[in-house]
Amino acid sequence: MRALAVASPKGGDGKTTLALNLAFSFARRGWRTLLIEMDAQGSLGASLSAKLQRASGLVGMTLHNHPLDRARIVTRQAGLHLLPVGMLPRQNSALWRSVIVQQQALLQVLEQARDEYDLCLLDTPAGLNELTLAALRVSSHVVAPLQAEPLALRCFPQLLEQIQWLRSENYPLALTGLIVTMWQAESAISSAALYEIRQRFPAQSLFRTLIPRDQAFLEASAVGSPLGLMPSGFQPLALLFEQLAIELEERLSLLEHAYDGERMPLVD
Ligand SMILES: Nc1ncnc2c1ncn2[C@@H]1O[C@H](COP(=O)(O)OP(=O)(O)O)[C@@H](O)[C@H]1O
Ligand SMILES: [Mg+2]
Repeated sequence: MRALAVASPKGGDGKTTLALNLAFSFARRGWRTLLIEMDAQGSLGASLSAKLQRASGLVGMTLHNHPLDRARIVTRQAGLHLLPVGMLPRQNSALWRSVIVQQQALLQVLEQARDEYDLCLLDTPAGLNELTLAALRVSSHVVAPLQAEPLALRCFPQLLEQIQWLRSENYPLALTGLIVTMWQAESAISSAALYEIRQRFPAQSLFRTLIPRDQAFLEASAVGSPLGLMPSGFQPLALLFEQLAIELEERLSLLEHAYDGERMPLVD
C-alpha cells in the first residue's frame, strides 16, 4: 500500500479538490483507495455531505479504538472509501491533536488499511501545521498542488524545506511531483507564474497534467461530488484527474507490468 499525502504551504489552493478527484480516479481505475481527511476543520465533510461530519472517522479510530470498517464511509464509487475526521467535540480537540502528533495512532490506522487498500490518500489542512507534519511523517509520497499565481510560488519553498528536514530525520518521504492548479490561460499573471514554475523546477518534478481554474469545481462542490460523477459536460475536466492518476501510477510504481513494448508505426 502507498500512503500519499496531498500537501502545500498555502490554504485554498485546491488540496481537498485534488485529493477527492484523484482518489475517485484511482478507484475508477481499479485501485482500492482510502481517502483520509487530516483536516480538523472537516473540509471534506463540508464539501461532500454532512454524513461525513457524523461519522466515527479518524477521531473514532484514534481516540476510541473504533475499527476501520466502523469508522469509514463507503461511497457510490466502487473501491473508494472515505475516512473523514469525524466528530470532534471542542473539549477533545487538544487531546486528539496530541494523539495524532505522537504518530503511533496514525500508523495503526494505516496498518489496518494496509491489507484492504492499494492506496491511502491523506488530505492535509491549510498551512504546514502539526497535522500536516503528522501526515507527512506517515506517508511514503507527497503530491503538492501549486497554484499558478505569485503568492503560491513564494510560499512553496516552505514545503520543500519541510520535506528535506523530514528526510534528514530519516523519514523515507519522496516528493512525487508538483501539480499546477488553478491555471488561468487568459490571465497574464497566471501564465507568467506558470512560466516561472517551469523555469524554477526541474521538468521531471512537474506533472504534465495542468488543472485549470474553472467554475465547474464550484458547481461540483455545491452538489458534493467529484467531477467524475457530474453530467457529461464536466467529463473533460474529470479526465484530467484520470490522466494525473495514470502519471502517478508510474511514479508510484503501482504497475507491476507497465507496458514498455516495441514502438510501432500504425502503418508499415
Ligand atoms: N481548479 C479550480 N478551479 C476553480 N475553483 C477551484 C479549483 N480547485 C478548487 N477550487 C475551489 O477553491 C476552493 C478551495 O479549494 P480546496 O480544494 O478546498 O482547497 P484547500 O483544500 O487547499 O484549502 C473550493 O471552493 C474549491 O471548490
Ligand atoms: Mg482542504
